[in-house]
Amino acid sequence: MKFFIDTAEVSEIRDLAATGMVDGVTTNPSLIARSGRRILDVIAEICDIVPGPVSAEVAATDFDAMLTEGRKLAGLRSNVAVKVPLTPAGLRTCKALSDDGVKVNVTLCFSTNQAILAAKAGAAFVSPFVGRLDDIGQDGIDLIADIVNVYREYPLFRTEVLAASIRHPMHITEAARVGAHVATMPPAVLRQMYQHPLTDKGLAAFLADWAKTGQSIV
Ligand code: E4P
Repeated sequence: MKFFIDTAEVSEIRDLAATGMVDGVTTNPSLIARSGRRILDVIAEICDIVPGPVSAEVAATDFDAMLTEGRKLAGLRSNVAVKVPLTPAGLRTCKALSDDGVKVNVTLCFSTNQAILAAKAGAAFVSPFVGRLDDIGQDGIDLIADIVNVYREYPLFRTEVLAASIRHPMHITEAARVGAHVATMPPAVLRQMYQHPLTDKGLAAFLADWAKTGQSIV
């Protein structure tokens, strides 16, 4: 399972990239706004830190303008994945950019039918939003499982299922159980994944016993 980090904060990305766990980054207009930076600058900087795909989302809503924005974003660096919303114009843009060899991440996916459309449009990634479905009383992980199963029936579909809107580490476990290819998570969730009280307790005991031996390894 690949891990993407869902943030436009460069310092966080730099820190987490050093762990060796980060395969890519996703951003969206809200995250860019929160960073307070210009999209073209921040995306280029992130692409230079993380070699994997960095999703940069278009802001236009009609096909011609989306295509122009998508081409501009894709031209920034070779590892940009252009993010488009799951609308008719977004999927048309996805098809046009994918036909040109650009990776596209189709975002704001909330149903299996939408994910089938994204695959037919040649998306490299489809992003079903787990947390936002949970928020309205639907099971976001069930949607991930359903899309993974449907895609398995069609080996010609190359689209990877990218579990998005991840809120806590159990979402990662559950998305992995049902076969999501990728999960994108806020930095805090990746940090939480390392934690277990028995790890801390066990390490403290080992270190205390080791100190009693008076030995050193190097
Ligand atoms: C990622 O591509 C999405 O933009 C992101 O995961 C949305 O997460 P949220 O529902 O926590 O805003």
